[in-house]
Amino acid sequence: MLDEMRVAKQLLEQGQLVAFPTETVYGLGANALDAQAVLRIFEAKGRPQFDPLIVHADSAEQAFALASEVPELAKRLAERFWPGPLTLVLSKRSIVPDLVTSGMQTVALRVPAHPMALELLRTFGGPIAAPSANKFGRISPTSAEHVRSEFGNEVALVLDGGPCRTGVESTIVALTGKHPVLLRPGGTPIELLQPFLPRLELPTSDPQHPLAPGQLPSHYAPRTPLILAERGSPVDPSSKLSGKRLGWMGVGPARSIPGYAHVEWLSHTGELRQAAANLFATMRRLDALGLDCIVAELAPEHGLGLAINDRLIRASRK
Ligand code: TXA
Ligand code: MG
Repeated sequence: MLDEMRVAKQLLEQGQLVAFPTETVYGLGANALDAQAVLRIFEAKGRPQFDPLIVHADSAEQAFALASEVPELAKRLAERFWPGPLTLVLSKRSIVPDLVTSGMQTVALRVPAHPMALELLRTFGGPIAAPSANKFGRISPTSAEHVRSEFGNEVALVLDGGPCRTGVESTIVALTGKHPVLLRPGGTPIELLQPFLPRLELPTSDPQHPLAPGQLPSHYAPRTPLILAERGSPVDPSSKLSGKRLGWMGVGPARSIPGYAHVEWLSHTGELRQAAANLFATMRRLDALGLDCIVAELAPEHGLGLAINDRLIRASRK
């Protein structure tokens, strides 16, 4: 066993926080069954306690041990999509502390696909509660460096597993109601889920009443104001923006964008997987340039484009 993993295990056992890579974004982890340890996550993030956490497990077996009821559909989804960027909301057993679930009788569960996350979970030998390792409302971290710059010494250990492959958070599906409900579009495209979930209800378009608590209208936000550009709309800075130092964040394919101080493409070819993987790091880079405004191009509404647009829309709200 690597020394670092042994240290991580000890820290988690002592109720400390360990940041770790997943295939989606970096997580800020604590022993999911220790309410005091979980409280530290909320303190470090500055996160309100009405925002429940996702519990990570090393296997479907370990995950489902936290659920009071496991529908057949959950088993089928787990078999097909775990390890991977899919979170299932099920009814919880009482061993899961109320703080993890914000007092709800349901718990969000996932088995991450990153080898280092799985190694950590196996070494620790229990479930780990982890939100994305960013301060509340800010841009999610897709590298260990992002986590360090956000938390400094506040986190005992940051495991470095390189850049995250998927780059947007997991897709969340609730299986606790009459029909399955999509609570957050994410790294598992809904087109892949639909064959299993023909009756999947899509999220309401009313951002003031999120289905998933904590899915607040403003989130993933850079400090620089960010505004959205419809796909295919003219990208000439409007009169409102003239004279300002502007940054362009395009999904791609790349083309000439005149009038902008800085231009970034999430994917030069417009490939949505690549665009998702680059989204948060690019947003951070643009945010560090001291621009007056970032103009972000919306993605096409399919595949990972749904997750990208969900994050962009929230990033644009103040
Ligand atoms: O990819 C991911 O899911 C990443 C990595 C670290 O695994 N985690 C992540 O966690 O995105 P976080 O805390 O940033 O977002 C978790 C969201 C909450 O904001 C909430 O909307 C939803 O999951 N959630 C958690 N528990 C829930 C529950 N019992 N019912 C409904 N939604 C829940
Ligand atoms: Mg988050």
